[in-house]
Amino acid sequence: MSFRIQPAPVARPNRCQLFGPGSRPAIFEKMAASAADVINLDLEDSVAPDDKAPARKNIIEAIGDIDWGRKTLSVRINGLDTPYWYRDVVDLLENASDRLDQIMIPKVGCAADLYAVDALVTAVERAKGRTKPISFEVIIESAAGIAHVEEIAAASPRLQAMSLGAADFAASMGMATTGIGGTQENYYMLREGQKYWPDPWHWAQTAIVAACRTHGVLPVDGPFGDFSDDEGFRAQALRSATLGMVGKWAIHPKQVALANEVFTPSDEAVADARAILAAMEEAKKSGAGATTYRGKLIDIASMRQAEVIVRQAELIAGQ
Ligand code: COA
Ligand code: MG
Repeated sequence: MSFRIQPAPVARPNRCQLFGPGSRPAIFEKMAASAADVINLDLEDSVAPDDKAPARKNIIEAIGDIDWGRKTLSVRINGLDTPYWYRDVVDLLENASDRLDQIMIPKVGCAADLYAVDALVTAVERAKGRTKPISFEVIIESAAGIAHVEEIAAASPRLQAMSLGAADFAASMGMATTGIGGTQENYYMLREGQKYWPDPWHWAQTAIVAACRTHGVLPVDGPFGDFSDDEGFRAQALRSATLGMVGKWAIHPKQVALANEVFTPSDEAVADARAILAAMEEAKKSGAGATTYRGKLIDIASMRQAEVIVRQAELIAGQ
């Protein structure tokens, strides 16, 4: 490894981020009662232009009035290309209670986008004497976002999480699809007349994971639009978890349990990881750096892999 140690991301569960429009306060209590680790109250694309101001008011009231338990409470502001975002930030930070944890910035395209929001947030925090610093999460959902993903991951000490937003990403890239995540019918390989469907989101996901892991940010998979397709959600989430992402959005409450199931290491996986650690401890006692576990090679790298699973399980158990 390079002499610079890979920084650890914030130690909190982020298996599921449940979204709800700020213009629909009737569901806020239900969101608070859900099993999602993170709540994203939305001011952006699920809120119509005429509803932006009332949605801000609903959200500010709900942040103080509702018992959000131990969830991470986040508000998605409007993008920096809109006339709404500065008012989102100023109204929220001037008026919302300290229960607000995070601001989500959509459609970020470069590090300077975070610099701009950071400057405004810092000024309002100081003016209001807010002692709890607001953290950031961002959505990579444009060609510019993915092209500059590493500088974005490094852009602000406030940054805790980064999601892939499949729908806007597809639009910005000019992809020929209206699907939000998952398998795309026309993205297939042919072998002996048989179709095989690879994952069109794979490259963007791994780019996000690499940038996030380099800079100690949590990588998260975004929405899966077809909320009637549980198996499709599960398949997408399992791929994301395999690639190193820690969680996924829910755009309907029925997706919360699915995300929690996939992003909580199974008892079997944790037992296996602990057994690998124990086998390696034994091997190390006899001076060996590698040994055999269930007929396969394991070595010191296997310990690091196993530790990822055990750490994640302990984090979730300890919440
Ligand atoms: N969070 C919590 N509860 C929700 C919810 C949400 N996001 N969406 C719906 N519910 C509740 C409903 O109020 C209903 O409750 P009830 O059984 O007590 O009546 C129940 O879950 C079932 O809802 P359903 O009728 O299936 O859905 P809907 O038609 O009310 O809403 C959506 C469907 C997709 C419009 C809605 O889920 C939604 O707005 N999702 C978030 C969209 C969003 O924020 N997008 C931005 C990020 S991509
Ligand atoms: Mg979007």
